[in-house]
Amino acid sequence: MRTLKMLGFGAVMASSLLISNVTLADGASLYTAKMCGTCHGVDAKTPIMGTYPKLAGQNTTYLIQQIKDIRDGTRANEQTAAMKGMMGGMGVSDDEVTAIAEWISSQESFVAETVPDASYSAKMCLTCHGADGKTPIMDAYPKLAGQNAEYLAQQIKDIQAGTRNNGMSASMKAMMASFAVSDDEAAAIAKSLAETPAE
Ligand code: HEC
Ligand code: HEC
Repeated sequence: MRTLKMLGFGAVMASSLLISNVTLADGASLYTAKMCGTCHGVDAKTPIMGTYPKLAGQNTTYLIQQIKDIRDGTRANEQTAAMKGMMGGMGVSDDEVTAIAEWISSQESFVAETVPDASYSAKMCLTCHGADGKTPIMDAYPKLAGQNAEYLAQQIKDIQAGTRNNGMSASMKAMMASFAVSDDEAAAIAKSLAETPAE
């Protein structure tokens, strides 16, 4: 009886593993087929420009939201038009977005150990993104530490200015206004979050 139960449990485990493997495999081939790698790198963390983001290891919920928002034009800041144009040409469905996001999230992460500038905690960034810049309080919030400096600096500015106003960016915009984050502080934070300190 016990052995039978164990066998049953084993079969369930095996089939759920099989399902997640299939999804990840789909995500990997879709990432290539939909040309994501041409801009973000084959490993999803070596983008062709410093103003483009690294993706590998980012939170899944956050990734799904951003990919859909860029595709649908809800996020329309900076160079999103390049990606939107490409996605429109390819046609990427919601299910495909989820599969791709799950695959990206499972890849070896870009996230690194950094020492955030003092203004990062003084201006309350840590309350949402974590003291280390890589442990956000929700899966819908992004990890920052190890991201490209130029990309980070631009996104901070855009969320502050309201040029990027998708997803849950309004909460960050409000906090930045309350704590009066200056351009110099934003630049120093971006630089520190992108740098791995020397030993
Ligand atoms: C033509 C180049 C290009 C292609 C192709 C492209 N992207 Fe992007 N992607 C960008 C750029 C540029 C941005 C940043 C936009 C900005 O300036 O804010 C971006 C942003 C993103 C973001 C938001 C990251 C973050 O930290 O907020 C995700 C996620 C993403 N891309 C995933 C994808 C996926 C998945 C594909 C394939 C379906 C794809 N991209 C195809 C150029 C591209
Ligand atoms: C109240 C919570 C909150 C606070 C405080 C906050 N953020 Fe954010 N931040 C967010 C959310 C949520 C997003 C994603 C918005 C979305 O849904 O598109 C975000 C996005 C970002 C991004 C874009 C990342 C990417 O991959 O595109 C950067 C960079 C960033 N925050 C830096 C900061 C900095 C620096 C501070 C402090 C000055 C800060 N945040 C304060 C919630 C917050």
